[in-house]
Amino acid sequence: MSGWLDGRRALVVGAGSGIGRAVVAAFTAEGARVAALELDPVKAGELDCPVVVGDATTRAANEEAVAAAVAAYGGLDVLVNCVGVFDFYQGVSELDADRLDEAFEEMFAVNVKSHLHSVKAALPALRDSRGSIVLTESTSAYYPGRGGVLYVSSKYAVRGLVTALAHELAPEIRVNGVAPGGTLNTDLRGLGSLGLDGRRLNDTPGRAAELAGRVPLRVALSGADHAWSYVFLASTRSGGVTGGVVHTDGGMGVKG
Ligand SMILES: NC(=O)c1ccc[n+]([C@@H]2O[C@H](COP(=O)([O-])OP(=O)(O)OC[C@H]3O[C@@H](n4cnc5c(N)ncnc54)[C@H](O)[C@@H]3O)[C@@H](O)[C@H]2O)c1
Repeated sequence: MSGWLDGRRALVVGAGSGIGRAVVAAFTAEGARVAALELDPVKAGELDCPVVVGDATTRAANEEAVAAAVAAYGGLDVLVNCVGVFDFYQGVSELDADRLDEAFEEMFAVNVKSHLHSVKAALPALRDSRGSIVLTESTSAYYPGRGGVLYVSSKYAVRGLVTALAHELAPEIRVNGVAPGGTLNTDLRGLGSLGLDGRRLNDTPGRAAELAGRVPLRVALSGADHAWSYVFLASTRSGGVTGGVVHTDGGMGVKG
């Protein structure tokens, strides 16, 4: 049986855990050849594909990862970015003014600049292949209350990247987003600049029941529930779609 991504060559940035890890598994199951960029060397060591260990907020790491993918597979058809960090719902009232600059810079470097750097580094290879880019948004970019002021504004920025890049890069390259709802069994961390990097969103007490309770479909989603939407957007079956977003969020939009 043929896979949806047979012959496709993909780079997944932030592939070591959570949604990115599920994307690697789904892409591989659908016949893609996958390479990865991951910050954490332990997670990188667990991946069964060519991996560059590096910081996706930097130009150098992204250029190295694209070069490694092209060297391994002879080109690149798909770029996925799943890098992200959280702010544990801190509002502007709670944010310490002394830490605001550093927290803003960290949030926007990880959640936004990493996405832009990976796109920039992959452009020549994706132009050659007339490829596809899938960036990771969030329900936070569509509904209030799904993060603090820094996280929400960073995810609106990723939403903006999808629109701006889809407009700019057509017709050669398609650019779409996936906007996951709250997700179980990921390693999503808080901002180091706010002293929250030891805290995992997944460890919130009662999270599974809370996630299921907040959406019409009554589901607590896992990485795999999102990964098949990345497969669709990466495949030629979505060949007419650019500047779009798949809302894998249990139906937030029909909550009423
Ligand atoms: N977990 C949720 O509830 C949820 C909901 C909506 C959207 N998201 C978004 O989904 C994406 C994936 O989140 P996740 O929950 O799977 O978290 P995760 O922490 O499990 O996955 C992120 C991966 O990126 C890696 N990473 C982090 N910073 C990096 C950097 N600078 N360079 C390279 N790699 C880096 C991490 O080590 C990890 O492997 C993020 O953009 C997040 O904002 C998550």
